[in-house]
Amino acid sequence: MSDSYDAIVLGAGAAGLMCAARAGQRGRRVLVLEKSDRPGKKILISGGGRCNFTNIGARPANYLSANPHFAKSALARYTPRDFLDLVESYGIAWHEKTLGQLFCDGSARQIVDMLLEECAKGDVTLRCGEEIGSVEHGNGFTVTTQSGRFSARALVIATGGPSIPKMGATGFAYDLARQFGLKLVEPRPALVPLTLGGEEVLFREISGVAAPVVAIAGKTGFAEAALFTHRGLSGPAILQASSYWRPGEPLLIDFVPDRSAEWLLEAKRDTPRTGARTLLREALPARLADILAEKLGLDGDMGNLPDKALRAAGERLKRWTFRPNGTEGFAKAEVTLGGISTAGLSSKTMESKRIPGLFAIGEAVDVTGWLGGYNFQWAWASGVAAGEAI
Ligand code: FDA
Repeated sequence: MSDSYDAIVLGAGAAGLMCAARAGQRGRRVLVLEKSDRPGKKILISGGGRCNFTNIGARPANYLSANPHFAKSALARYTPRDFLDLVESYGIAWHEKTLGQLFCDGSARQIVDMLLEECAKGDVTLRCGEEIGSVEHGNGFTVTTQSGRFSARALVIATGGPSIPKMGATGFAYDLARQFGLKLVEPRPALVPLTLGGEEVLFREISGVAAPVVAIAGKTGFAEAALFTHRGLSGPAILQASSYWRPGEPLLIDFVPDRSAEWLLEAKRDTPRTGARTLLREALPARLADILAEKLGLDGDMGNLPDKALRAAGERLKRWTFRPNGTEGFAKAEVTLGGISTAGLSSKTMESKRIPGLFAIGEAVDVTGWLGGYNFQWAWASGVAAGEAI
């Protein structure tokens, strides 16, 4: 005998809870099975404990996917404003930190509590600490855990991606996808620090130094802070660029985004008696300025340095080429690029095109947002899309 539901949602994270709440409020009998001892663990630690729950400017262009059009429908039907309305309806105070990023004034716990209350408004049962043993598909779906057998006509894969395994993140969604013959786009760590080796280990000496830069990987650049670490490069600009960076490719940094490539030549004309190092220190944090001055061979007064060298140095500062030797991997990645291929899913409902009743949502799917609330917005929007269709 098994307990019977309209839908079983695997994973009580952002996407799973949103989906369950929506389906439950539509009168569906929903069971959420969560491996961990409590729901929404990643929400709780997100945004430094304040949860950057959406980005008010979220558009499809802020997402990476093998099919850049896939996210459009769900994102258009459940917008950042919709989620904000929900947040406000619970009286949760919020603020915009920067670049459209919305955070709780209080704590991320408020978002988890809100989602649980939304689930409680519908017919949703949440069971934590459930180890999924098997998932069978025949006339509907049957999930076996250590505590029993549960069946439903719909199954939602909402178990996220493998980023931050020490928080319980797994590649379980991919195992299920393989079982059901859904294709995968190779998962890779994203929003992740990059590591430096070779001659570039020199930059590790300035671990802790941050500077506003433009970081460019491929054709995409991000104007935010970069941070030097004891392993390489981090900070928002680097995390953003990491999603576009491929092993073996360079990462370009504009260290002087507010200055032109000619600024050193202009400075030579205007202040020939200023030391080159002093000048760089005016534009950049001192320790970074010193290391760059050394690498560029800029020493002595500006007036004594040849124009050619200053032009070349100005250009290098605008397009400094790092050759990262890797990333810090899933252990440090905020999200996962790739995942369940969107080719096999309906962009309206997130349902498998081949297996009716099977849905995949959230980070498990090959849709990855920028840093800054975009990933939660995808979790909410894809969760609602499936929750409306179940
Ligand atoms: P999520 O990972 O939230 O949930 C999956 C759930 O499935 C988990 O509860 C997990 O325990 C469960 N599960 C896994 N395997 C299972 C199994 N075999 N059986 C049953 N359950 C299983 N994004 C953003 O927009 N703003 C932010 O501020 C942040 N901050 C942030 C900080 C940190 C440190 C990280 C690591 C990530 C972020 N993110 C973020 C990204 C964001 O957390 C992420 O995009 C969403 O949580 C994805 O939601 P999902 O519901 O898809 O997965």
